[in-house]
Amino acid sequence: MTPMSSAAINPPVARPLPLPFHCTFVESEWRALAKHWYPVAYSPEVAGQPLARTLLDQPLILYRTTGRQVVVARDLCIHRGVPLHLGWQDGDELVCAYHGFRYGADGQCTKIPAQPDLGIPKKLCLETYVSVERYGLVWTCLAPDPAQPSTIPEWPELEDPAYRMMHDPPPEWDVTAGRQMENFIDVGHFSWIHAGTFGNRETPEVPQYEVERRSTGFHVEYPYLAANRSAAALGESPTIQRRMTYDLHLPLACRLSIDFSEGRRHLIFDAPTPVSRRKTRIFFFIARNFDHHIPERQLLDWEKAILSEDKPIVESQRPEELPVDLSEEFHIRSDRFATAYRSAMKALGLGANYSA
Ligand code: FES
Ligand SMILES: [Fe+2]
Repeated sequence: MTPMSSAAINPPVARPLPLPFHCTFVESEWRALAKHWYPVAYSPEVAGQPLARTLLDQPLILYRTTGRQVVVARDLCIHRGVPLHLGWQDGDELVCAYHGFRYGADGQCTKIPAQPDLGIPKKLCLETYVSVERYGLVWTCLAPDPAQPSTIPEWPELEDPAYRMMHDPPPEWDVTAGRQMENFIDVGHFSWIHAGTFGNRETPEVPQYEVERRSTGFHVEYPYLAANRSAAALGESPTIQRRMTYDLHLPLACRLSIDFSEGRRHLIFDAPTPVSRRKTRIFFFIARNFDHHIPERQLLDWEKAILSEDKPIVESQRPEELPVDLSEEFHIRSDRFATAYRSAMKALGLGANYSA
């Protein structure tokens, strides 16, 4: 008789993640997205009181323990379904506003004030999610089995003290995350919608560029002769050559490096976190290793002005979802990066396939 392994006798039962209430995603897309890591807060936002955020239609509550650990849990008391953000944090515990049930950092209920003699069952436990703090951001993943090789991107400059990281509170846009990311990597729009900031109307032609596929995404180097709006005041050239390098980490994170002479580097990061299908929280931040005397506010206002040029355009795009079948929409040479991105998103089960 052939011996059977214990794995064959008792195969693990994969319990599908329950979809959030009022899920706005197609189920297959939600399950594909839920396997990836996303930033849900900047680290300084998780201090003092618990913070409510939504990821993929799942309401979350984030808080920091006295040991400085960040806890990410489902924002719902399992007694009577009241959001925990209506309550408060007491030490390392969350207290529900409705009947005062308390939950520890592992999600386990620790106290039922109305019936203190009741043994607390193990199942009285909040759903908690894996989380990690890196680069000044809190990242989380809803699935207990994150996709491989989906990891958090490698952004070593953000761990280098030579770089100063700067950001505003993360805004929410009425867009799909895929459309926003594609806008960030679109090299053909600078001379048009950014004519009020760095765009140069005199250089609309997009030179040939290469899209290099890497293990976690794409690498693109692109030169752009940008407008230099402060030229007249400073007696400088009216244009400035930008060496731009994109490193996109699938599905929804990208670093753009703008390199100047003598190793001076200005980095722009874009990580659009899907709140719901058509609502996205934009983690857009910068870091640079030079000109530390320039006030942070001044640098952030410049980026804000550029983003405000993008926002109305991206929010107006129809269909709202990124069409990942390349027979949809019309592509030109300058869209090479975007078409590679769409194909990769399609392979991950993301975006909308209108031809299907
Ligand atoms: S609903 Fe939270 S304690 Fe009752
Ligand atoms: Fe733009």
